[in-house]
This record gives sequence, structure tokens and C-alpha cells, in this order.
Amino acid sequence: MITFDPERRLFHLRNESVSLVLCLRPDEEGTLELLMAYLGAPLHDPAACLHLINQGEGASFDSLRQALPYACPTEGRGDYRPALVCAVDQQGQRCTELFYEGHHIETGKPRLDGLPASYVEKTEEAETLEIILRDGLTGLTARLRYTLFAALPVIAASILYENGGKNPLTLTCAGSACVTLPGRYDLMHLHGAWAKERSVERLSPAVLTRCLSSSRGASGHEHNPFAVLAAPDADEFSGECVGAALMYSGDFQISADENAYGSTRLTLGLNPRTFCWRLGPGKSFQSPEALIAYSDAGLNAMSQALHSLIRKHVCRGYWRDRERPILINNWEATYFDFNHEKILQIARSAAETGIELFALDDGWFGKRNTDNCSLGDWVVNREKLPGGLSALAKAINDLGLKFGLWFEPEMVSPDSDLYRAHPDWCLHAEGRRRTTARNQLILDMSRKDVQDYVIEAVSGVLRSAPIAYVKWDMNRNFKEAGSALLTDGRQGEIGHRYMLGLYRVLEEITAAFPQVLFESCSGGGGRFDAGMLYYMPQTWTSDDTDAVERLRIQYGTSLCYPTSAMGAHVSAVPNHQAGRVTSMRTRGDVALGGNFGYELDLSAQTPEDMEEIRRQVKQVKALRRTTQQGTFTRLQSPFENNIAAWQFADENRVILCAYRVLNHPNAGPAFIRLKNVPEGVYTAPDGSNLSANDLMRAGVALSFPHGDFASRVMVFEKQTQNG
Ligand code: GLA
Repeated sequence: MITFDPERRLFHLRNESVSLVLCLRPDEEGTLELLMAYLGAPLHDPAACLHLINQGEGASFDSLRQALPYACPTEGRGDYRPALVCAVDQQGQRCTELFYEGHHIETGKPRLDGLPASYVEKTEEAETLEIILRDGLTGLTARLRYTLFAALPVIAASILYENGGKNPLTLTCAGSACVTLPGRYDLMHLHGAWAKERSVERLSPAVLTRCLSSSRGASGHEHNPFAVLAAPDADEFSGECVGAALMYSGDFQISADENAYGSTRLTLGLNPRTFCWRLGPGKSFQSPEALIAYSDAGLNAMSQALHSLIRKHVCRGYWRDRERPILINNWEATYFDFNHEKILQIARSAAETGIELFALDDGWFGKRNTDNCSLGDWVVNREKLPGGLSALAKAINDLGLKFGLWFEPEMVSPDSDLYRAHPDWCLHAEGRRRTTARNQLILDMSRKDVQDYVIEAVSGVLRSAPIAYVKWDMNRNFKEAGSALLTDGRQGEIGHRYMLGLYRVLEEITAAFPQVLFESCSGGGGRFDAGMLYYMPQTWTSDDTDAVERLRIQYGTSLCYPTSAMGAHVSAVPNHQAGRVTSMRTRGDVALGGNFGYELDLSAQTPEDMEEIRRQVKQVKALRRTTQQGTFTRLQSPFENNIAAWQFADENRVILCAYRVLNHPNAGPAFIRLKNVPEGVYTAPDGSNLSANDLMRAGVALSFPHGDFASRVMVFEKQTQNG
């Protein structure tokens, strides 16, 4: 529920698990500024938190500005912490002032123009407060939107900027949301690089500003657009934390600032370093949306709130709630070296195990036998596939498998017909060289003609054969980014215009092919964000498919993203990235923690491994509703323990997955306590019946197979009322 108390000038957004209190406070001239007074467990009376914004004895007006929890801090007003908004006028003046002008409250949630955003299906699922702030001098208006989800401790926040003045303004900072909490908080974030995405780092409080960001043109492998402020005593199961994710796939910045007055500010938005936007009179600019989740019961509860939100209010379409097919991808099996017969050979073995979909990876188009050519020429390579995609898809369909295809539509190879015909269609800075990476350039997705080409090229291929799945890849980042069409000093808009163009393309293609399952990818997990998940309900988690490495990658990813968003494949040993040899069992047990698939030459496996694969496929089909849509709980971290564990639960069962990295002989008994098991009696793998209570209190013994890299999956089936 959202209420406004005009006397005390308090907005209260409250449901059963969270309260957000915003208040209007007169400044020294009596104009009203917007403060965020409280974000936390539900309050009865919002005024109860007002002492949190009163500065103690000795505060001068100067220090007051540095301490107040502004909801929309602006540049040049003596706040000095990271600002959310800076609109520069024609004289180059950066000072921006935003005062309250009005507000309204509506049921439901409006859509965001041109950008991905969380949504509701019924208006009663959310309520939205819009507060209008205005700069009287320049005419800049900021419409701050806060949506409270009725059944989740989550608030979605974004800002629509409008130039209501007579003169052009330049937005150098157009943030999405600012959260201020009283007190000191640990900062947690996900960092990495190619093949080691989303490691969890937890930093103790420090009186300084720390920034997570990307200037790569993609959200990136290095920092994820997600951060947590966690009370220093918070752990997986207790304590306060606020998790905030930006629904954006390009350059972003999240800053966490702790000041000398004991308050911590988190800002989220586009990266001011690479952003500069000319806002003419009458024009508007929509910021991306920030998703803010609160928990007073530790990190797992925060993650579960985000998982529910992303699963039901971010992901869309036919596949949102459906069990995802078990697929086989040929990349690590063949790389570029395949032909019709080789693919069919793998597909035949796959069919025999019950695998449901064959995904043909890179190398099927142009003259692409290595990564130095043909991106942009989405025409089948007849030397490799003489009958084309339709003959291959038909042959695969005849085996009982669906057929899927890899694309990298945002790219162009200098050695391609597309580049030869349109050399100005790539991102480039006039007068500078065009530096390639992986031998490729990036198409200028800000251009309508390029967008239309990509839509038609991809759609044409999708229409040409029964294609049920698309892997949408993006394998390099921006350098010398500019557009031939951006004139008039607007080159600083390219990063965001690229994203708007890409989002348009994704919207059109996914809408035109609603039953195709789309999986996004960027050199593995280089664009794993809530923005991409709005268009494509799953993402290839990492190019590192080693089972032991994947424990950390998948565990870290789960801090924000649900398992239904994570692609997880069993690959060959020795593993291509790590050189490690793990058992087929362990590889399968790790991949069970995501959208399950294979990425190896199935026609070259031993009979024992094939037998194990058949068992895995059967098991995944029986359990995937729970592993993809059930409640995921982290039990023991691979970053801190030799034994890592996680759990899935729904109304039918609890699944415990445990992984022992190294075997230490004579280590003593290993056991683990399950958590938040729904009430009931469960049948354990040994046939014994155990109550939810006992599974949580006494825990269960873990017996691993002998040796290193061992795993154990235990399924506890819930007994029905009559059983
Ligand atoms: C990227 C992807 C891989 C594979 C290759 C193909 O690296 O992450 O899975 O598709 O491209 O070139």
C-alpha cells in the first residue's frame, strides 16, 4: 500500500515485508526537498523513522547537506557525495536543483519507453508512486517512479527526465535510483573476467566512495550491475541486507559511499564516464530501472526475492514458466570443424539418451571456418551443410530433437560482404583506426538501418527452417565507439543509443518468434543482467564449463539471478578451460543447478559414460520443475569451504546438492542441515521417513564417492496427505 500524509509530508510504501518512507523537507528557503527517510522492515507509523534524518547537535547547515539522505541528489548543492543528476545548461553551469512539485499514486506499474523493466500482469500486483521534482531555473523535471510489489520485499525505481525549459540542457548524469541507509554496511558485489565470472567479494565498511562500473558497451564480465549493502553481522540466514540490480545491459555505474556522518548511499544508473545526452526543450529521457530488494533474514531471503521478481516480473513469454529443454551444443565438441554428417552423428547419440534439442553453434554461415570472417553474412555455408539449415533441422527433428542455432547479430567481420557493402555501419570514431577484437567490429546498433538489417537477417534465417532455440552471442566490447550518424556534438550518446537500438531489435525479434527459446551470451557470462533477461529468459553463464569452477560461478550468480536464468552444461574431460578431470557424475550434478545441457561429442563417449548420461537425462526430466522454478537456497559457499552445498525446494520435494572439492582422508563425518524445508514428511533416498523439522535440525549425513571432485545429490520426496 502507498499512502501520503500531507500534514507530515510523508510517503509510505509498505507491504508485509518492507517499508520505504520518503519525506519532503523544507530547505533554508522553504522549498521542499525529497529525502529517503527509511528503507527496512515494515513500520506501523512512518513518522517513527523521522529521527533518522535529524542531524544531531553541532550540525551546521553545511554539514546537514552532506548528511541528509536525499532521494535524488543533484550536482552543485553542497551534498558532495555521488550525485544522481547533473544537467548542464548552455553556459556550462552544472548546478542542478530539484524541488517537489507534485505527486500521484496509481495501481499497477507503467511500462518504460524503449527499455526493459519489471512488469505486472494484474494491476493489484503493484502500486506506483510518482513524485515530480523540478528545477525552477532550467525547467528540468524529474519524475521519480517507485513501484512497490504487493507480495515481494521489492521496489522498482526509475526516473523520467524532461526538459520543460526553453533552452537545451546536457545531461551528464541521469541516474536511476539512490538509496541511503543510516549506519555502516558491508558492500558485496560480483566481479570477474572471462571464464571466471561473478565471484563474490564482501568488503568491510570504509569511509570512502567505491564504484562498480562498466564502460565496455556491455554490462561486462568484470562487474555485474548488482550490489548488496549488508549489515556487518548479516549472513546467508540472518541480518539485514539490501540488494540492488540495474536492469541494463550497457555501461553502468553503481557507487557506494559512506560518509563521516555514518550514512551509506548507494546510487545506480548509467555510467557518467561514458554518457552525455543533449536534452532539447520538450524532450524527455528515461533512465533504466533499478530493482531494490530488502531482507531482514539474510542474503538467501534477499536473493529469493530477486529470483521471484526476475522469474515472474522480468522474464516474459512462452518459456517463462516452462521446463527448459535439455540441449546438446556442439561448440566444445567440434568448434568450427563440422559438417552435416558430423552434426547428425552427435544428434543420433543425443536422441538415444533422451536429450531434447540440438543447438548448432558458431561456424554454420558465410565461409566461417575460423573466427576471422563472415560475421554479418547470415547465409548458410553450403560446403558444410549442403542441404542448408532446413535439411539439417529436418533430419534432427526426425530424430525427435528440436533444432537451435547460434548467432552473433551485433557484429561484423571486416572480411564479410556486409562490411564491404557498408563500411560505415560499424561503430567507429572518425579519423581513428578501427581496432578489432577477436577479428571483429561492432555494428552501430544506434542506426535504424542497421537495426532493420539485423531484424531481417535473423528473422529470415528463423523463417527458413524449424528453429526452436537461439543462442544470441556478443563477443567483444567497445573501443573507438562512435556513430557516423551522430552529429551536432552528440557522440557521447552512442553507448545508450546502442542499447536502445539493441533493445528494439530484441523486442521485435522475440515478439515475432514467441515460441523460440532465446538464450543470451557474451563470451560466456559477459552480459548477464536483468535487462537481457527481459528479452531472453536464460543466459549462458560462463565459457568455463569445468565442474569445480562452475561451483563458484553458479553460486556467485545466484546472489541475484535465479537458476532458471543460468545455462549449465556437462562438457568433456580433461576440461577445455581448466584441464581438470572430473567424473561424469560430478559434471552432471553441477549442471543440475541450472538449465541443463551437454557440450561434448556424444558420439565419442564410453558405454559407461553413455549409461550415466541416460540416467542424468532421466533425472533432470524428473527434477527440473524443482531445480528451475523451486526455491533455491545457498547452504555452504564454495568460496569458503571444501564442501559446497545448495538446495532446491518446492511443494513436491527438497533436493540437496553437495560437492566435495578435495578428498581429505579421515576427515570425519560430513553432514549438512537443510533450511526452510516446507512442513511435511519426506522420504529420504535410503527409504527412511523424516520430518521437515528433523531434516533441518539434525541435518543429513553426506557420503561422497571416493576421491577428489565428488558430488552427491539427495532427493527428499514429500509424502502426499494419503501416502
Ligand atoms: C563465445 C561463446 C561460446 C561460443 C563461441 C563461438 O565465446 O561464449 O559459447 O558460442 O562464442 O564462437
